[in-house]
Amino acid sequence: MAKRIAVIGAGPSGLAQLRAFQSAQSGGAEIPEIVCFELQDDWGGLWNYSWRTGLDQHGDPVHCSMYRYLWSNGPKEGLEFADYTFDEHFGRNIASYPPRAVLWDYIKGRVEKAGVRDWIRFRNPVRRVEESDNGRFRVIAQDIGNDRETEEEFDHIVVASGHFSVPNVPEFPGFPGFNGRILHAHDFRDAREFVDRDLLLIGTSYSAEDIGSQCWKYGCRSVTVSHRTAPMGYDWPDNWTEVPLLERVEGKTAFFKDGTSREVDAIILCTGYLHHFPFMADSLRLRAVNRLATPNLYKGVTFIPDPRVFYLGMQDQWYTFNMFDAQAWYVRDIIMGGIALPDRAAMEKDVEDRTAAEDALEDDYACIRYQGDYVRELIADTDYPSFDVDASNEAFFQWKKHKKQDIMTFRDNGYVSPMTGVKAPPHHTKWVEAMDDSMESYLDPAA
Ligand SMILES: Cc1cc2nc3c(=O)[nH]c(=O)nc-3n(C[C@H](O)[C@H](O)[C@H](O)COP(=O)(O)OP(=O)(O)OC[C@H]3O[C@@H](n4cnc5c(N)ncnc54)[C@H](O)[C@@H]3O)c2cc1C
Ligand SMILES: NC(=O)c1ccc[n+]([C@@H]2O[C@H](COP(=O)([O-])OP(=O)(O)OC[C@H]3O[C@@H](n4cnc5c(N)ncnc54)[C@H](OP(=O)(O)O)[C@@H]3O)[C@@H](O)[C@H]2O)c1
Repeated sequence: MAKRIAVIGAGPSGLAQLRAFQSAQSGGAEIPEIVCFELQDDWGGLWNYSWRTGLDQHGDPVHCSMYRYLWSNGPKEGLEFADYTFDEHFGRNIASYPPRAVLWDYIKGRVEKAGVRDWIRFRNPVRRVEESDNGRFRVIAQDIGNDRETEEEFDHIVVASGHFSVPNVPEFPGFPGFNGRILHAHDFRDAREFVDRDLLLIGTSYSAEDIGSQCWKYGCRSVTVSHRTAPMGYDWPDNWTEVPLLERVEGKTAFFKDGTSREVDAIILCTGYLHHFPFMADSLRLRAVNRLATPNLYKGVTFIPDPRVFYLGMQDQWYTFNMFDAQAWYVRDIIMGGIALPDRAAMEKDVEDRTAAEDALEDDYACIRYQGDYVRELIADTDYPSFDVDASNEAFFQWKKHKKQDIMTFRDNGYVSPMTGVKAPPHHTKWVEAMDDSMESYLDPAA
């Protein structure tokens, strides 16, 4: 009997897994039966934008954490698929920081070409994965379209459900009495909601940087960013301030640890996300935080307590789409027998070494190199097309320098593709002036 593989999630990671198997099949290999379960009614994961917040129309938590006018926060040259370039998809060389709709189109283009949509059961959230008595796994899913629960057995589970959708929501004293709106970045949708408002953002990572920049671009009155560890330290616009951690709020007044205070209209918690897999039985559930070396995952993918289970894309992410590819090709080859797993002690040693190496990294540049090396290591063992990882690293290095030079203009730069060796042109409009984030506008040759 052919092996059966359950892939949970049809975002960039899950789609990479489907493409990896389809690529082997198109090369003449006999592949296992693949069933991909997807909560939403379309593919693309976070890139499949929804205006909804809270619960979806079927009562499930909304997966989307993206928002209107979101542009890529890193250069596309860092995430390009090695087997499907931007040039192939768009028919020409496009600029380096595409808006969400453009990247969603790119993600979809590769899997449409591969013809794997039929492998996906949309509106099929997985409710439970547990070991069955016969050495396989029982997967219980909700088939929403037919209003029934399904129960099937699989030999392997690939969890690709993402880890940037379940918000980490701390509470600060006085929140229950705050006379304004408090929301997490997960529920932020449109910067225009905050025109002429004074905003307090908590957190100093990408959500704070990008949501603050967007609200500034679309006309909020001021941005105050409160940090727990350290300020971001960019050369911010005049109406942007960085302050120590929030201590408490009273009415609309926020008080900070340095004794200062200010009136704010809304508080946006840019405090990150939880790795959350409630559908996995205790013995199969990854417990992790957002870092580069994920605990319990050999080579960053194989779940050591039960190596028939794999997790994709669970690392903190400099690299994204092509790292998910590297992982998916690697997992495919373990499942199909091309790569053998070592014993448990060796797998644990692999995680220890990766963790120690991450702990020794001194700055973001070293982190980028570390993750680039990881991608290189995985693709060396599979037939994923080799690519110039150093060129991707270089795009990230330039990106960091451009951000430091001017945080509101870094997206106006272009970088060299690691796949084609050609430098991207600048976008036709500066990011601060580009209010329309549609694909039509971005690709408009006449603009
Ligand atoms: C606000 C924001 C902006 C980002 N911007 C960028 C960017 O500019 N560039 C970049 O490279 N990366 C960006 N990222 C990182 C992002 O994590 C990756 O680009 C990518 O989306 C991760 O892919 P994934 O498939 O691992 O997870 P996701 O994209 O989260 O996809 C997971 C899929 O699993 C499905 N799912 C979840 N639970 C279940 C279940 N129980 N049953 C069935 N299906 C389920 C979901 O519906 C979803 O389709 C951003 C992340 C966030 C939060
Ligand atoms: N345009 C875009 O492309 C875009 C936009 C937004 C997000 N993203 C992506 O989304 C992902 C998640 O980014 P993120 O910024 O949401 O999460 P993140 O990188 O995990 O950062 C979480 C932040 O929250 C802070 N924090 C956590 N708990 C806190 C608490 N109790 N009190 C105060 N501060 C607290 C952390 O501070 P410490 O440093 O003190 O720990 C950190 O600054 C990233 O991959 C990013 O690339 C992309």
